[in-house]
Amino acid sequence: MKKTFLCVLLAVALILSLASCNKSGDAVNSGDVDVDTEGKILVVYFTAAENSGVDAVSSASVVTVDGEAKGVSQAVAEMIADETGADLFSIRTSTVYPANMGELIDYADKEQDDGARPELTSSIDNLDDYATVFVGFPIWWYDMPQVMYSFFDEYDFSGKTIIPFTVHNGSRLSGTPAKIAELEPDATVISDGFTVSMQNAANAAEDVAEWLQGLGF
Ligand SMILES: Cc1cc2nc3c(=O)[nH]c(=O)nc-3n(C[C@H](O)[C@H](O)[C@H](O)COP(=O)(O)O)c2cc1C
Repeated sequence: MKKTFLCVLLAVALILSLASCNKSGDAVNSGDVDVDTEGKILVVYFTAAENSGVDAVSSASVVTVDGEAKGVSQAVAEMIADETGADLFSIRTSTVYPANMGELIDYADKEQDDGARPELTSSIDNLDDYATVFVGFPIWWYDMPQVMYSFFDEYDFSGKTIIPFTVHNGSRLSGTPAKIAELEPDATVISDGFTVSMQNAANAAEDVAEWLQGLGF
């Protein structure tokens, strides 16, 4: 029943997402946005394709950019890194997510119901080097994938600026910047991060560049 509801919602949302746009925004945790664009920058992302135990083409979610198949969040993360010269970090977990979309939807539903904290298997050694960290993920069940909760449990972003970005099928940011701000109360979290539908992601480079310009990059 819940699955049928999600399918209907995603279909409606797909239509809405065709008008998808993005903008730079306000800080969730503090008054003024003052993004440090000079120091070292990190782009963190989670994507199903790199955590499914199969190659990207066989995974539940894939996009092709310049002839290369990859997870949708990865594609957007790379666009941000290309524009800013940032380092890239892929969140990996020991959880092997189903490569079949229907199975993945059920699996993620249960993970969320259980409040799971999937084990992280990749780690950022030098977070102190970065004042500004982009953090991107797909919207799963109107929220961050549970592994993102593991991620924010693991790292302390006090004093840093977190710039969220999401890929979606209609839910856009789905309130996730506010959730990140709750998890990282001493970070500055940009409330209107970049968001793009999975259908538009492959061609999002120009939108990404425009959004980054708005942030001062
Ligand atoms: C388990 C699961 C749940 C999803 N739930 C939502 C949702 O609630 N809202 C939405 O807009 N898209 C939802 N989607 C669509 C994903 O956000 C979209 O497929 C995204 O591009 C996947 O990114 P990735 O390739 O980086 O994993 C869901 C996809 C999956 C696999």
